[in-house]
Amino acid sequence: MSTSPQRTTVGNIDEEILLFTAGKDLVLDLQLAEADCIGSAAHARMLSTMPVQPPVLTSEEADALIAELAKIRDLARAGQFEIRPEDQDVHLAVERNLTEKLGDLGKKIHTGRSRNDQVAVDLRLFARDRLLDLMEDSASLASALIGFAEKHPELPLVGRTHMQPAMPSSVALWASAYAEAVLEDLSSLKHAFTLNNKCPLGAAAGYGVPIPIDRQLSSDLLGFAKPLHNVAHAIQARGKLEYQILQAMGQLMITLSRISQDLMIFTLPEFGYFRIPKAFGTGSSIMPNKNNPDVLELIRSKCALVLGYSSAVGHILHAAPGGYNRDLQDAKEPFLEGLATTSASTRILARCVEGLEVNPERLRGAFDGGVFATDAALALVAEGMPFRDAYHHIKDHLADLENEDPDAAIARKTHLGGTNGLDLPGYRAEIDTQIDWIAECRKRLADKLNALFS
Ligand code: ARG
Repeated sequence: MSTSPQRTTVGNIDEEILLFTAGKDLVLDLQLAEADCIGSAAHARMLSTMPVQPPVLTSEEADALIAELAKIRDLARAGQFEIRPEDQDVHLAVERNLTEKLGDLGKKIHTGRSRNDQVAVDLRLFARDRLLDLMEDSASLASALIGFAEKHPELPLVGRTHMQPAMPSSVALWASAYAEAVLEDLSSLKHAFTLNNKCPLGAAAGYGVPIPIDRQLSSDLLGFAKPLHNVAHAIQARGKLEYQILQAMGQLMITLSRISQDLMIFTLPEFGYFRIPKAFGTGSSIMPNKNNPDVLELIRSKCALVLGYSSAVGHILHAAPGGYNRDLQDAKEPFLEGLATTSASTRILARCVEGLEVNPERLRGAFDGGVFATDAALALVAEGMPFRDAYHHIKDHLADLENEDPDAAIARKTHLGGTNGLDLPGYRAEIDTQIDWIAECRKRLADKLNALFS
C-alpha cells in the first residue's frame, strides 16, 4: 500500500516514506541553513578554479552563485528560509532556491559533492561557532567563580566528606575548586574544537570524485586548519565528532550540576551559608512562602539530558558499518539540543554565581570542635608524636576538643593550593588567556568568511 508519490529534486518518493525519512530535518536543518550557504560558497569558488576545459564554473558564474547564496544566508538569519517536504533537507532546499533564481547555473552547484560531505561540513561550521560561544560561556563562569572567591578570600566554610563535617575549608577554596574544574572542561571543549576544525568537503559520498577538485582550497576558504585527509574517514567521522563534542559538554554539565547541588544544600534554611539572588526562584502557585531554586534543579536535570544525548549518539554509532548510513541523520537532534542546553545552562549559572551572597555568621557558626580533630592530631605530630598515636589520642578524647577560631585555622594552611595558598591571580591569567584565544579565533574566521562573500 503506497501513499501518493511526491516529486522531489532526486525523483518521485512515496509521501509517507518521504516524511518518515526526512523526519525532523525539515525543522532541525533550518539551524544549518547559514552553514550550508557558507559551505556551498566555498565549493562554488573552488569549482571555478579547477584546471579543466570547458570550466565547470567560470569565475563570473561562481560570483553569481555566491551572491545568491549570500541572499539565502540573510534569509536564513532572518528566520525566513523554508525547507519543504519535497526538499527532504536543507541541502536540496538551497539547491532548489539557486535553481529557481539562476536556472541551469543552480543545477551545477552539486558538481563534485554529495549531501554526505555537505552535511558533514555544515555541522562542523555550525559547531565551531557554538563551541567558541560555549568556551566563552565557560570562561565567564570560571570568572564568576573566581570573582566570588576574590570577594571572600578569607571566609571560613566547613569542608565536608560524605557530606559530613570534615575539616576547615573556605569559600574561596570551594569556589576556585569549581573554577579549576570549569577550566579543565574548557580544555576538553578546546580539544573537541581542534578535532572539529578539519574540512570534509570534497569527500563527496565518501569515495572522492574523478575530477581535479582542490580540497585544500575549500578548506582554506572556510578557515579550517586543514582538510580531513582520507575521504572515507571524512564521512565516517560524522557522529563520532558529535559524540566527542557531546562528551566534552557532558563533562562541563557534570561540573555545573555539582555546583548547583552544592548551592542547593548551602542555601537550605538549615545551612544558610549562601543566598541565591531572589530572581532565580519562580515561586509556588499555592505556597506564598516559597522561593525555590528552580534554576539549579533544572541544571541538574539538563546535565542528565546532555549525558543522555551523548549516550544516544554513541548508541546510534556503535553498530553502524563503515561508509555513510542514514542513521547518522538521527544524531543531529541530540547534538543540536546538547549544544543549546549546555550553553544556556552555563550562562545562567554564571549569572547565579555572580549574584551569590554569603552569611558569614552562619558560615563560622557551623564549625565545632570535631572539624578541628585532624588539625589537632597534626599539632601533636608537630610536638613529636607519631601520627597514628596522635590520631588515637584525639579519637579517644573527641568530647574534649574545643571549637577553635576557623579564621586562624584556614590561615595556617599556607602550602600550594591550601586555604591560604590559593593562586587566584593565576586563575585570572588562565581565564584571560582563553578569552584572548577565543577572540582571535573568531576574528580570523570572520575575516575568512567576509573574504569568501566579498
Ligand atoms: N539529511 C541527510 C543527513 O542528515 C543528508 C545526507 C543524505 N545522504 C544520503 N545518502 N541519503 O544525513
